[in-house]
Amino acid sequence: MTRSPFYVTTPIYYVNAEPHLGTAYTTVAADAIARYRRMTGNDVLFLTGLDEHGQKIAQAAEEHGMSPQEWVDAIAPKFTDAWAMLDVSNDDFIRTTEPRHKRGVQAFWQKLHDEGWLYQGHYEGWYCVPDETYWTAEQLEDGVCPQCGREVQFITEDNWFFKLSEFGDRLLAYYEANPHFVQPETRRNEVLSFVRGGLKDLSISRTTFSWGVPIPFAEGHVTYVWIDALLNYITALGYGSEDPADVARFERYWPADYHFVGKDIIRFHCVIWPAMLMAAGIEPPTTVFAHGFLLTKGEKMSKSKGNAQTPASLVKRFGVDAYRYYFLRDVAFGQDGSISMEGMVQRYNGDLANDWGNLCSRLFNMTEKYLDGVAPAAPGTAAETDEDATMRAIAGKLPETYEDHMSRLDYAAALESAWELIKYANRYIENAAPWTLAKEGDTERLAAVLYNALEAVRIAALFTAPVMPATSAEIWRRLGLGEIAEVTDIAVAAGWGGLPQGSRVTKGDALFPRIYDEE
Ligand code: MSP
Repeated sequence: MTRSPFYVTTPIYYVNAEPHLGTAYTTVAADAIARYRRMTGNDVLFLTGLDEHGQKIAQAAEEHGMSPQEWVDAIAPKFTDAWAMLDVSNDDFIRTTEPRHKRGVQAFWQKLHDEGWLYQGHYEGWYCVPDETYWTAEQLEDGVCPQCGREVQFITEDNWFFKLSEFGDRLLAYYEANPHFVQPETRRNEVLSFVRGGLKDLSISRTTFSWGVPIPFAEGHVTYVWIDALLNYITALGYGSEDPADVARFERYWPADYHFVGKDIIRFHCVIWPAMLMAAGIEPPTTVFAHGFLLTKGEKMSKSKGNAQTPASLVKRFGVDAYRYYFLRDVAFGQDGSISMEGMVQRYNGDLANDWGNLCSRLFNMTEKYLDGVAPAAPGTAAETDEDATMRAIAGKLPETYEDHMSRLDYAAALESAWELIKYANRYIENAAPWTLAKEGDTERLAAVLYNALEAVRIAALFTAPVMPATSAEIWRRLGLGEIAEVTDIAVAAGWGGLPQGSRVTKGDALFPRIYDEE
């Protein structure tokens, strides 16, 4: 079977601070689609990494009395550790200080130079170091950065410029021909009106500091950090290398299926990046999906606001899978979402402890108690009740419904569709009352009921696996089944009757022990 490639990326994060809930949010969301696509048989490449150059990083290093390289080397493990803790399954991790990246950036410079898209000019204007963004005097709001509200500095430099202004029409034509390039729709409109307003050429080199990728033909110039950063998406695939393995990797995975980004960085990803690629004769990515911000008490969570939390404390309290579940279930992907401890406790106790965890433990217990922990044979349809048929039907439509939601990155709806089955299975057990059947000695119906409920659990575990991989793996183990992570055709795996007769079912500890909110 030929597997079709699927390439998904997160932004590469600035190493000026530790990862927080906001950066973890993008990464976990990208992980969930990467995991799901592996289960639909795609050849997935999931990339994340670090943005290590630029003035902001150089400043952070200086403040800590370190060289920039020492600083980024010291911070990088905080990201790799955080992602490992959150069960992030990235296939590659790029750091912009790596030789493979610098080589690619330099090759790109040469290409743009050769194609005549660059010129030398003079830049005078404002610069926001925390956002690494240029602003004109008119764009400033009350003299500060219109994006983050922090102070800007005036810079005057002789720089290299990219002829971005010549790409307006091509970009508009591209958006028109590729309506799914920018998602969601609100962001697309924002990008369209920005480009319709006219584009200015972009200064893409800096001379007043040296922490960046040197420009091959211009001594003393280093690459503007955003140009450097955007290129990670192709340098990680081997762009700029002549090694046949790199060339093949690039050919196979580019263009990316998804760049996941926060809504604050769409201009870079939806205007500058496609223009850069067009200039180099490379196809733009298929979709840039911009998610919203996580808000606490109505404000964007960020390090500069001092309200940023690290994932570790929440993971300690709720566990990794509950953490992942909460953010993807409670915040509509693409919109801003308020998060709170109360909300998290509520989701945890309601959806996870009561619905999902409870279903599993009751059922595994009963299987041990009434059937000695051995899965019975699948009942025939001859004696099927309406409830049996309904549950089978809910499970039967799940692959399609779930795919439909996930193909739009609607994680909340995808999870809800899995919950329809989980909730029904709980009700099913309640109504079928296996304990009464056992008491009455109706062993045939008892076996049929338990089999059906076990099957519902087996199938629900498949569709919760992209978001809660460890729990699903554990449930499959308790059902006596193989590694859920090895599933490469989820629709087939979800076929009713997949639980083999004789499978050893074990009860184990509570998957989501109830949390009593002492605060
Ligand atoms: N280094 C650049 C990206 C370069 S990509 C070629 C950068 N880094 S960042 O570390 O500042 O932010 C990375 C991402 O985290 C952005 O997409 C941003 O939107 C996201 N988030 C930061 N705070 C956030 C929230 N409070 N909520 C959700 N996501 C937010 O920008």
